[in-house]
Parts: sequence; C-alpha cells; structure tokens
Amino acid sequence: MTFTNSFSIETFDALVIGAGGAGMRSALQLTEHGHKIAMISKVFPTRSHTVAAQGGVNAALGNVTPDKWEWHMYDTIKGSDFLGDQDAIEFMCREASEIVRELEHFGVPFSRLDNGKVYQRAFGGQSQNYGEEQAHRTCAAADRTGHAILHSLYQQNLRLGTTFYDEFYAVDLLKNQDGEINGVLVMNIHDGEYKILQSPHILLATGGAGQVFRNNTNASINTGDGLGMVLRAGYPLQDMEFWQFHPTGVSGKGMLISEAVRGEGGKLRNALGEAFMEKYAPRVKDLASRDVVARAIAIEVNEGRGCGPDKDYVLLDISHIPNEIITERLPGIREISQTFLGIDPVKDPIHVYPTCHYMMGGIPTNISGQVVSPDKDGNQQPVKGLYAIGECACVSVHGANRLGGNSLLDIVVFGRKTALTIDEALKKTPAQHNQTLNLTPVVNRLNRWLNKAECGSNDTVVQIKKDLQLVMERGCGVFRDQPTMQKALEELEVIQERLENVCISDFSNVFNLERLSAYELENLVTIGYATVVSALARTESRGAHSRVDYTERNDDEWLKHTLYFQNNHTLTFKPVNLSPKHHEMIKPKPRVY
Ligand code: FUM
Repeated sequence: MTFTNSFSIETFDALVIGAGGAGMRSALQLTEHGHKIAMISKVFPTRSHTVAAQGGVNAALGNVTPDKWEWHMYDTIKGSDFLGDQDAIEFMCREASEIVRELEHFGVPFSRLDNGKVYQRAFGGQSQNYGEEQAHRTCAAADRTGHAILHSLYQQNLRLGTTFYDEFYAVDLLKNQDGEINGVLVMNIHDGEYKILQSPHILLATGGAGQVFRNNTNASINTGDGLGMVLRAGYPLQDMEFWQFHPTGVSGKGMLISEAVRGEGGKLRNALGEAFMEKYAPRVKDLASRDVVARAIAIEVNEGRGCGPDKDYVLLDISHIPNEIITERLPGIREISQTFLGIDPVKDPIHVYPTCHYMMGGIPTNISGQVVSPDKDGNQQPVKGLYAIGECACVSVHGANRLGGNSLLDIVVFGRKTALTIDEALKKTPAQHNQTLNLTPVVNRLNRWLNKAECGSNDTVVQIKKDLQLVMERGCGVFRDQPTMQKALEELEVIQERLENVCISDFSNVFNLERLSAYELENLVTIGYATVVSALARTESRGAHSRVDYTERNDDEWLKHTLYFQNNHTLTFKPVNLSPKHHEMIKPKPRVY
C-alpha cells in the first residue's frame, strides 16, 4: 500500500488548529463575525491543556491592591530578563483588564471578594509602583482557573455553532504552487483516514511541547505539533533555549503545585527547616520570579539540604494557612497532594522539585498574530496565510522567563487580536478555493512511515521518547553548560537515527495511537534539536537559561532573539523590540527581587 495524492477536501474561510484557550478565543471571534471556520483538536476540546492551568490570569484590576497596567508591564519586562518585546508586552498589559471583564461576561466563575469583585491573589514577580510593594494581580477561580476559562469558552463556541473536528490530528501544513500556506492534512484518529482542510488562513494554537522533558506539568498531548509543522514548512522557531521550570512540581512525578500556594502564604523549607528563599530573594522571598525560585531549590538540593532518603526535594509548607482558606482557594492542590503523594497538606508539607512547565520560545509572530520569518536580506516578513497564538507562539511577551498568570492572559489577548487580523483580511479578500496544493512532501512523509511498518527493529517509539526526555532533562535542565549540552547534542544524533530506523508494528491498530505517537515523536525530536542548538549558542545566563560556564547576563552581545531553522540546524538572530509604542522604554538593569 502507498498513499497517493488523492484525499477528500473540505474548504473553510479559516482553520484554527488546537482547541485550548487561545484557539477557543479566536474561533469564537471568527464564528461571531460570520466566517466559516473549523476548529481541529487532537483531543476532545475540553481536554486541551488550558484545562490544567491553576493559579489565575493577570490583569491590573486593582481589586485587592492599587494597580496600573504600566506596573504590570514593568514587572513583565523585568520578569522576562529584558528579552521580552516591549511593544507586545505593552499591548498585552493594556488589554488585560478589558479581556478579563469579557471572560467574566462569557461566564467564567471567578472567585469573589466580600464586596463581590473578582478575587485577585499575589503571584511571583508582581509589584506596585515599579518594583515596590507586592501586588495582587492574578484573577482566580479557586485553583482551577484554566478549567473555568476553557469550559466557558467552549460553551460560547457551541452556542455560536463553531464547527469542531474533535480527535483529528494535524499532520502537516500544505502549500500551493506559489509556495503559500493554503491548507493542512489531518488524520481522523478514530479511523486513520486522512483528509485535506483547505483555507487561505491557518491559525496554529497547538500549545507547548513540555513532553520533551521527563518531569513536566504538561498533558501527554503537548508534543509541539505546530512547531514541527512550521519547521518542516521551512520557517524558524524563536528563543527555544528558554524553558520554564516551575519551582513546585510534585517531586519525582512533575505535576503542578500552583504558585497560588505561595501566593496564599505557603513557605518553601529545606531539610534543616529553613525558609531558604530569604537567602535568595531577601525582599519578596517565596514570591520571587519562577527562574529565581527554581534555581534556589536546585541549589539547596545540590548542596545537600534536600529532604527524604535521597535528599532530592524540598518542602512546601502550608500548615500555618487556615483550613477554610485552603478549602476555598486551594482545593485542587489538596486533592493533588492526596492523590499523588498520599499526604494531606493541611498537616504535612508537600514534596516539591522544579518541573518543566512552559516554553517561552516558539513560532515567531508579530502583534497581529502573523507568523514572521526573515527574507533573504534578513528583514522580518509576515508569512502569508499563517498565524500562531498561545504557547506555540513567540510574540514575545515572556522573553527569557514568564511570570505566573501571564500565560492565560497571553492566550486570550492574542487569541482575540489574531482573529481580528484574519477577520480584516477576509473582509478585504473573501476566501477562494481554486488553488492547487503541493502534496508531495507530506505524501513522502506518510509513505516513509508506511514503508517502515515491518522493518524488523526491536526499538519502539515509546522507548525512544523516554530516552529523548532523559537526554533533555540531563543536558538542558535548570542549569546547563557547554559539555552537558554538547553531550545532549550527540545523544540527539543517536535518537534521530533510531527514529529513522524504528518501525510501527500495525498501521491500523486501535485509534491509530502508534502512528500518532510516531508523528508526535518526530516533532519532539526536532524541538530537542532546536532547544540544544539555541542553548549552546547563547553564551550568557538570562532568565530561565542558566549556564554555569557563563553566569552573567551579557546585554552587549545577547540582547537579541535566536531563530532556529531545521535545515542544517542554522541559527540567525533578531533584535529585541525595545520601543513600546506609547511608553518610555524600560532599560535593562540588574534584576533583583
Ligand atoms: O502556578 C500556577 O498556577 C501556574 C500558573 C501559570 O503558569 O501561569
């Protein structure tokens, strides 16, 4: 059997790939404006990873402490270790209050203060008055904010009649004869059939790729599918060296213990009982930004002050927080601790260690959500018909380190903005579907796997993925240096070769999961390369990229973004945008908390 170039075709004004909060918010806008769109989701939509976001969404509402969007912008730029693009950050922080009010009107059941206003908790790296007192900026629905947002947006989409392709996997982008993006090949996971969805506007909202690391907070679906598609289509990924390790994952397992725990007063302690964050961030202590806290925990453990028989975790103590606060604001955390650690945090501290949580890099875009790529003179140009939002995108509002509560904000702000960009384009030029698509690259890829169905190798996709995750954890974790990353690069070569030789036993087994895992693994391996190549090149420490051989930030040489291309693992660079539109530039300076 071989695949040929004949697939059934359906046409749309726009396609949204990924049904997390970003995809949902944009689909809602596009459907509301009367466009014929399709939402493609690898899982049933409400299982998308937004559902797992716990702590909340940032907006300078000022319900608990005085606040201003300008303070939020300042904190975000400082949190990004000055790598964030200041025009994009200004835009996001200005939009935040309106976008949260809009979520409230969509039905998000935010927790409430006694006066009826939306409850806002303290999160790391938040300040009043440009770095002074702690701010309370994170709007929360207990510790299940992502769940509340995703379900509300899904219900709004159902109300308006958005078309969903549930449990369809987007395999690759398709180009027309002029090389412009014009469609996507999808696989129905249930029956393994492929079809083409054609449209002049394709919006990637495929989420992150935390599955590239062994311990992570991410859903198993987070395999960087949009990133793989973009690389194979010849476009770059930006800033892939920056991965956020959330300070408080369940030790040895990785699940998220929300920063909300420290926002509500939780304290990190080492084996000596010391509240050690006082040493690392004397002013804000446990509410320093995530890169700072993750490093502090890793240092405590590396220096022998970890807990347990293997001294490999620290404790998150909430025993001093009143029971009713825990029940009302942290019910999910109590449940996670009971389920995965067998402890009740009301009495016993939670065992935590940093865990891979978020990808700051991704598909480069401008503020309008258009994917951008350098032309032959190095000028950044929009890629016609291609857009990206949410964690798969790098706009870049998080720079080298994201602040907690800014990712739920990012997805809704740029979800709406990008839908408006597409809406405007469709008003100017209605979608036409007379283009011939070049199917050769994707048909070759499908046939490569098909021909390997009985190759005789004992290796498995599952084992290669596990080995990849270990290579990445050892080579590119909280701390890195040249020798460990160089070793990881060499190990990636072996992984790549194993991937080329592995076979998938049955091409039509139940739900085609083996085939799906093989496609996902191809994406994860490319992301591994993008990460290590970019991290090796950046000879400084900035935000979440902590090199023990280059310990200082180096603004003279490295106040710039990396752009990684799959072809020959090429790297180019582009400057950070330091010119907000309506505000004075915030100048890089030493970052202390
Ligand atoms: O800690 C948390 O609740 C995670 C929030 C975030 O990543 O924004």
